[in-house]
Amino acid sequence: MAPAGTSSPADPTATGVVLVGFMGSGKSHVGTLLARRLGLPFVDADALVEADAGPIATIFEERGESGFREVERRVVLGALADLADRPAVLSLGGGAVSHTDVRAALRAAPFVVWLDAPVEVLWRRVTRAARRGRRVRPLAADEATFAALYERRLPWYEEVATAVFRGAGERSPEEAAGWVADTLRGRR
Ligand code: S3P
Repeated sequence: MAPAGTSSPADPTATGVVLVGFMGSGKSHVGTLLARRLGLPFVDADALVEADAGPIATIFEERGESGFREVERRVVLGALADLADRPAVLSLGGGAVSHTDVRAALRAAPFVVWLDAPVEVLWRRVTRAARRGRRVRPLAADEATFAALYERRLPWYEEVATAVFRGAGERSPEEAAGWVADTLRGRR
């Protein structure tokens, strides 16, 4: 993993920041708070996918996971390219790192923060959100499949991240955003 912070000459407010991590890691909430701290707009790739092709659950139902991935790949590559002209905090859906060319684009981005937590914590968080009707996640149907998917994706997050915050879901979103902002500015 490439080091972030003091060793990097780049300025996160000039280049933007990308948040990656598995479902339930709090990317959208932390991203919103981080954007506010950095004075940048917040962009949620899942919201861009939905604006492009309709609700994620419906895309999965009608086109399957591969149909969803096609839309996701196109939208995420576009959003990453846009960061050059319009710096933002960009949060990616948990599976965006499964695309080889998305990972290549992420490796070229100066600030890619991986929000991580033990998979049991992530599972608890997504099932709680589902019970409250907050979010439909087609790939969070059962715990064993969820955990296997998490294991499969770990090397991809590792490959693209310039910094990792491991307390996602256990520490508050405010703490996470503060940690990320300080790390990016080289204060930690
Ligand atoms: C997915 C994660 C979701 C969403 C879609 C697929 C995944 O985003 O993109 O349901 O493959 O992990 P979050 O990570 O924001 O839940």
